[in-house]
Amino acid sequence: MAGIVLVGAQWGDEGKGKITDLLADDMDYVVRFQGGNNAGHTIIHGGRTLKLHLIPSGIMYPHITPVIGNGVVIDPKVLLEEIDELEADGLTTRRLLISCNAHLIMPYHRDLDGASEKLLGGNEIGTTRRGIGPAYQDKASRLGLRVQDLTDEKIFRAKLEVALSEKNAVLSKIHGLPTYTVDEITEEYMGYAERIRPHIADTSVIINKALGADQWVFFEGAQGTLLDLDHGTYPFVTSSSPTAGGACTGAGVGPKRIDRVLGIAKAYITRVGSGPFPTELHDEVGALLTRVGGEFGTTTGRQRRCGWYDGVIVRYAVQVNGLTDLVITKLDVLSELDTIKVCTAYEYEGRPHRDLPCHQTSFHHAKPIYEELPGWREDITQCRTFDDLPKNARDYISFIEDLAEVPVSIIAVGPSREQTIMRRWEPRP
Ligand code: GDP
Ligand code: IMO
Ligand code: MG
Repeated sequence: MAGIVLVGAQWGDEGKGKITDLLADDMDYVVRFQGGNNAGHTIIHGGRTLKLHLIPSGIMYPHITPVIGNGVVIDPKVLLEEIDELEADGLTTRRLLISCNAHLIMPYHRDLDGASEKLLGGNEIGTTRRGIGPAYQDKASRLGLRVQDLTDEKIFRAKLEVALSEKNAVLSKIHGLPTYTVDEITEEYMGYAERIRPHIADTSVIINKALGADQWVFFEGAQGTLLDLDHGTYPFVTSSSPTAGGACTGAGVGPKRIDRVLGIAKAYITRVGSGPFPTELHDEVGALLTRVGGEFGTTTGRQRRCGWYDGVIVRYAVQVNGLTDLVITKLDVLSELDTIKVCTAYEYEGRPHRDLPCHQTSFHHAKPIYEELPGWREDITQCRTFDDLPKNARDYISFIEDLAEVPVSIIAVGPSREQTIMRRWEPRP
């Protein structure tokens, strides 16, 4: 049995798409377990660049079954567009399985996402405005429609009627927005239903059977630990559980099925959207990281905020996810720097702390305590083993490892699949 989870250890965009693609050779299944099309996972494979939002990275391998688990929220319009794009690119999406229990993003969810952000004004979260928050809100308040409802128009209509009685009032009375009729949404969604139907399955049963038969299942996280609804920088978070526990609830497997939990972090750190960010850089180093790292959002194109590697955050991610390994990406981006800072602790409430503060106000006021390390100033994009790296780059990785108290098992030194150093990953026998 091999259940392997990959989660973002920072605020997302750590390179989950690349690493999932890289490890896909060894897997039988790649499962998305939370989030929706707020995610943007980039894969560079065989000279082509794919940007996936809903479909699991692994789609291009004929031996893999890609699965969208129950914990994901699905915008069927976006899903079908993504399927069409992949098919036009010569890839088959026939094997894709979609959980019957996954919730649907409805047109009013997209409207309400934008409207709520507008209402928040200066306090906005900076969401992707894809309707993610409102869809999870309806799931929790038991007003949501699910993928299985697409298979029965009568049930779909009945549930939509209940939802719209509330949603239309909110849209018109609170936000002054146009309302929807049951007929128009039903017509639109029944149009999608036909194409989605062949993919619908009881995915939890299928994944558990696979694990029971010693197949390898890779649970591909979206977003990152600090965007987790419970463990992130609330309220500046997403509305799902991108931490490792989310893989269990979002795919329908027990915790004992998970053998390895990989946490992925950039060799620095970025964030999109609002919220506290202790190591954020507003100077020329920040500008360099943005430029060299190409730090613009895969989903919204927004410029990502950049900062020094935050060891407090990654140590926190080790703890809340039970990480067994770290994957460090974008080490090559630091090659232009003479010296590199790493945050080892925060100062708040008048003294140093090694742990993330529980209280939001303390996190807002946390001042990073840095250790400055020498840079290497040479091209590392061709390095393929740890020993190929310059000494200062090896020392940087060792420093991160000591701080996190978890081994750095994989190091990425460029965006393509080959630009990777495998330190502790034994290919499947
Ligand atoms: P994800 O959301 O975690 O899958 O990450 P994104 O795809 O949104 O953003 C990561 C970006 O970094 C993508 O453009 C990747 O192609 C790129 N990338 C991944 N690993 C590396 C690396 O080691 N070096 C460089 N220079 N780019 C990388
Ligand atoms: P991947 O999977 C980075 C951020 C948004 C916003 C907050 C809430 O590519 O790493 P939402 O639309 O989810 O309600 O927005 O979360 N966010 C991401 N940031 N990477 C992502 O996904 C993100 N998905 C959401 O910018 O701050
Ligand atoms: Mg991304």
